[in-house]
Amino acid sequence: MGRDRVSIFDTTLRDGEQSPGCSMNLDEKLRMARQLEALGVDVIEAGFPVASEDDFEAVRAVAGTCRKPIIAGLCRALPDDIERAWAALKGAARPRLHTFLATSDIHLAHKLKKSRAEALEMAVAGVRLAKSFTGDVEFSAEDATRSDVDFLCEVVEAVIEAGATVVNIPDTVGYAVPSEFGALIRTIQERVPNLHRAVLSVHCHDDLGLAVANSLAAVEAGARQVECTVNGIGERAGNASLEELVMALRVRQDRLPFLTGVDATQLTRSSQLLTHITGVAVQPNKAVVGRNAFAHEAGIHQHGVLQHRSTYEIMTPESVGARVQSLVLGKHSGRHALGQRLAELGFELSKPELEKAYKIFNKLCDQKKEIFDEDLLAIVQDGLVQIPEAWKLRAVQATAGTSATSTALVTLSDGAGEATETAAGDGPVNAVFAAIDKLTGLQGLLLDFTVRSLTGGADAVGEVFVHVDFAGRPATGRAASTDIVDASARAYLNAVNKLVHARRLPARAAASA
Ligand code: KIV
Ligand code: ZN
Repeated sequence: MGRDRVSIFDTTLRDGEQSPGCSMNLDEKLRMARQLEALGVDVIEAGFPVASEDDFEAVRAVAGTCRKPIIAGLCRALPDDIERAWAALKGAARPRLHTFLATSDIHLAHKLKKSRAEALEMAVAGVRLAKSFTGDVEFSAEDATRSDVDFLCEVVEAVIEAGATVVNIPDTVGYAVPSEFGALIRTIQERVPNLHRAVLSVHCHDDLGLAVANSLAAVEAGARQVECTVNGIGERAGNASLEELVMALRVRQDRLPFLTGVDATQLTRSSQLLTHITGVAVQPNKAVVGRNAFAHEAGIHQHGVLQHRSTYEIMTPESVGARVQSLVLGKHSGRHALGQRLAELGFELSKPELEKAYKIFNKLCDQKKEIFDEDLLAIVQDGLVQIPEAWKLRAVQATAGTSATSTALVTLSDGAGEATETAAGDGPVNAVFAAIDKLTGLQGLLLDFTVRSLTGGADAVGEVFVHVDFAGRPATGRAASTDIVDASARAYLNAVNKLVHARRLPARAAASA
């Protein structure tokens, strides 16, 4: 008997982006969308077009860029929402309108202030309107797991009658437990007579840490689409983690005989790209993609793995695209070796790009002996995919110590020439940021500052991620260097340059505009 296929609906760019600290700009969303396409997800939910101009543009851009997967846009069951979502989606090769309405009495009474009958009517009208634009319409019954089951079944039947081709049952608040959720999915199939005309989907949140378990229980019970996010990011505690779902379905074929279209060897790369873009790292012990997911520490375990990997490994690091040995290049490596390794990592560079990457690589070789894959990723992602540098860092120096106030001296250049400023601060990084503010004329309020080591050893490359508010205009910045003060200055300038670029202003006009 053939194995059933389970569709992977990725909502990293929509529900995922709703998690604190995970917002992405247009370029970042496009990079992530391309990676999701390479990963082989069936559906990319690219955003919620009515929510903001940026969301609208992101959905439109993803729809125009990723032609293989279905591109979904979220909309409430309201005419304006649906029309706006369609305007963003209509250029997609395979558009899907995803409309939703809450069905639980709690949401109806306190949020929507509607009766069940009114909600039913709205859901049907929303699906009908969506259907007038496209054949692929998904309806989500928000807070389904706290809804009255009879009413939920009534809504599901009515929206399918109105044309929904996918019906999604979200555990919006992460309240369900697996046995209960599986039973709900079975009940819906038993009670809704026209269910065979639609794909049954689930969307689980992780408030009790059960999102993946609930999704798998639903698949066993008959759901054939799971909604999930890379690294499990999403509202509050997040959504079901894509990598965990995919690998559970793959590793436990004996119990879960289902197929997905995902290329599992792209999982680590997808996870790392998201971390790189958002600055939000996964915990080291995170299943499948955490740094320690394949690290055997205890002597007995190490011994066992050396004898035979299957003693303590249920899947190989290679199967999820993790590299066991990531030391690759050094200062004797040439362009060819660099280009080849980058191609193995999935980056096909043009000649000029490779030339640029090689220059950065050589500079890095002067600073550290061993170049790891993570260093190469930083070179490509920071060095090549670039926001135009309205401001360039020419020099940075900072003093620090226990007794004195820190001071910094920063030299920047823009189209008009070079300028130097000094500033004092509460620590060297703070002083550097203050000096940059003086030079650019912007006032940045640092909301978040993260440093993480990309590689091991005393000469490790550190990555700095900043989230800055420039008088109500937020921007994120990132940079990597073997020197943390240098990386901090570059990350902060990266945020400044993103702001200047987004507003299409000359650097020196940025402050006054
Ligand atoms: O959690 C939820 O209910 C949602 C829906 C909009 C699908 O995100
Ligand atoms: Zn959700």
